Amino acid sequence: MTKYRIRFNRPCTMGNEQLYMAQAIADGRISGDGQFTRKCHAFLEQELGVPKALLTTSCTHALEMAALLLKIQPGDEVIVPSFTFVSTVNAFVLRGARPVFIDIRPDTLNLDETKLERLITPRTKSIALVHYAGVGCEMDTILEIAGRHGVAVFEDNAHGLFGKYKGKYLGTFGALAAQSFHETKNFTCGEGGALLINDPQYIERAEIIREKGTNRSRFFRGQVDQYTWIDIGSSYLPSDILAAFLYAQLEAREQIQAKRRRVWEYYYEHLQGWARDHDVRLPVVPDHCEQTYHMFHILMPSLEQRQALIAHLKARSILSVFHYLPLHLSGMGQRLGGRQSDCPVTEDVSDRLLRLPFYNELTEADQAYVVTAIKGFFGE
Ligand SMILES: Cc1ncc(COP(=O)(O)O)c(C=O)c1O
Repeated sequence: MTKYRIRFNRPCTMGNEQLYMAQAIADGRISGDGQFTRKCHAFLEQELGVPKALLTTSCTHALEMAALLLKIQPGDEVIVPSFTFVSTVNAFVLRGARPVFIDIRPDTLNLDETKLERLITPRTKSIALVHYAGVGCEMDTILEIAGRHGVAVFEDNAHGLFGKYKGKYLGTFGALAAQSFHETKNFTCGEGGALLINDPQYIERAEIIREKGTNRSRFFRGQVDQYTWIDIGSSYLPSDILAAFLYAQLEAREQIQAKRRRVWEYYYEHLQGWARDHDVRLPVVPDHCEQTYHMFHILMPSLEQRQALIAHLKARSILSVFHYLPLHLSGMGQRLGGRQSDCPVTEDVSDRLLRLPFYNELTEADQAYVVTAIKGFFGE
């Protein structure tokens, strides 16, 4: 594997991770739902103001739980952006749903709400949206359309923890939302996730599905004498050792976000003039959105130039990466009916988007090196 001077991502600890993990071990209870899992739940519920948060083993698993909770069945349709990670769609396809791919807005790269209503049919069961890069989708319009058609809104908020749309936290709009704590995310425990439940009707069944289809959560709370098999389910709860790691990160929320904000603003400030001069687009964050500083992407004028810039940076030992190949054009997407030109903005953006190295501890000196290398691309 190539060793880069500037890596694309580097997970960063905040200081208390090892201490809390040692405490979990000393406590002698390292399976799921121990003291640190409860602390993470309470933290997320209080900070976000959601009725229920449940840690999961990944965002993918939170998505799968959501598909089970929404009772997605063969024949149902789920509207989902093609410009997303495979798990957003897979969770619903696993239950037999047909994904109906929607294109994205050219500015925020979020689902294009002006194209939403025409895709709704009597079979539409859910709209699964993604707040790309932690910038909110146009929730007012989406919720209005979904409400009028009686369709459940689900938020894949993998990038968007603590981001806001019009002053309200992302992940608190839909009936359900999923978070990711994968190594590449702002807050991490290596692999992990959470299901946020905004509609309380789903809480009891969510606990059952997460505990292998049993009412073990009620048993542990002393609400029943024994626990038994109630429903379908799986094992979606992470070890308390991982929750301990995550809690140290959540506690440091302000510091983490301040570090990432600095990195994002440095790129923006130092690339602004260059981007204008060379027809390159920097990220767009509408005034009514508070973003999460999850990533920094640029849109190059063409696929050829994007590929050439990746190679140019690689030659200077900098790893930059593209993001999301259109799912409707993947092998699986095409088997599900996806065709070229179904989502023209997605197809165009996917060709031209480049993500720059981004992590909490990326130093200004390293960023200056990246910026100089980028500016050298057009021969400055
Ligand atoms: C939008 C989106 N959803 C879901 C996931 C899956 O997250 P996890 O790795 O926690 O399952 C990702 C991963 O990067 C993602 O970008």
